[in-house]
Amino acid sequence: MTIKTVGVVGCGLMGSGIAQVCAASGYKTIVREVGDVVLQKGLGRVKKFLDDGVAKGKVAPEARDTTLANLSGTTTFEALKDCDLIIEAIVENLDEKRQIYAGLETVVGAHTIFLSNTSSLCITELAASTKRPDKFGGLHFFNPVPIMKLVEVIRALTTSDETYQTVFAFAQSLGKEPITAPDRPGFIVNRLLVPYLLDAIRAYENGLGTLEDIDKGMKLGCGYPMGPFTLLDFVGLDTTYYIANIMFEEFREPAYAPPPLLKRMVLAGRMGRKSGRGFYSYEK
Ligand SMILES: NC(=O)c1ccc[n+]([C@@H]2O[C@H](COP(=O)([O-])OP(=O)(O)OC[C@H]3O[C@@H](n4cnc5c(N)ncnc54)[C@H](O)[C@@H]3O)[C@@H](O)[C@H]2O)c1
Repeated sequence: MTIKTVGVVGCGLMGSGIAQVCAASGYKTIVREVGDVVLQKGLGRVKKFLDDGVAKGKVAPEARDTTLANLSGTTTFEALKDCDLIIEAIVENLDEKRQIYAGLETVVGAHTIFLSNTSSLCITELAASTKRPDKFGGLHFFNPVPIMKLVEVIRALTTSDETYQTVFAFAQSLGKEPITAPDRPGFIVNRLLVPYLLDAIRAYENGLGTLEDIDKGMKLGCGYPMGPFTLLDFVGLDTTYYIANIMFEEFREPAYAPPPLLKRMVLAGRMGRKSGRGFYSYEK
């Protein structure tokens, strides 16, 4: 199946990056938001990323112009009617996502593939809520999308071979390195990363060392680009807590249980970088 026109629903942190890489790869890309203010904010993020890239000599001015020419925004479903493939990247909420698929189904053709960028929801459950469970899958990008090479391609129990192959090839056409991940909470990367991060919190609670020493240990001793607490503050403690709860609910294994300190930090509003304070302080 040939993909020419791509729809992206949600132009937040992930959706704007996804729309940018699709447009940069030559696809006519239309991104939908709930309102004009959020839409312009998301499109502005794309423009700023590209302008900064040009200023630093990392993006050719022609590439920026072509990307922006391929990209348009909308607040309607109607504008997505000719899309061959639509990537949903709205808030991590099952009901909201279901409503999006129902809205899209009133305008798109029977051939259109639906993909979700969900981090933790069950792809088979999302697929089952549509009239096209065979043309549904997960495409999990990593933040920041224009920079991170990896994407996880997730097959629902119902995804057809043709859909899976089209999506895998589509991910490659974006210049990404796709891997095939199972429809299990955390897919591959978070399945291994989240228990490691939770373990670091438990170890800290048990007095293993200071935050700085544990971070330094893992960075310099294992060659990780950053230590677990720096990474937790980047990811967001609320997001980590949310994912850990979903994984624990599914697997019922202690490794996925959120440590008491994580819960309390979230309750206290210490979400990491985005709230100005997490394990470290970012307040100026
Ligand atoms: N943040 C990450 O690191 C990350 C990584 C991989 C996957 N994800 C997943 O990507 C998705 C989006 O996450 P995010 O971090 O970009 O969130 P975000 O809050 O930055 O963006 C979500 C956007 O969706 C918009 N939105 C909400 N309802 C909508 C609707 N009905 N129609 C159109 N737009 C709508 C919101 O206005 C918002 O701009 C979630 O499913 C999340 O789990 C996030």
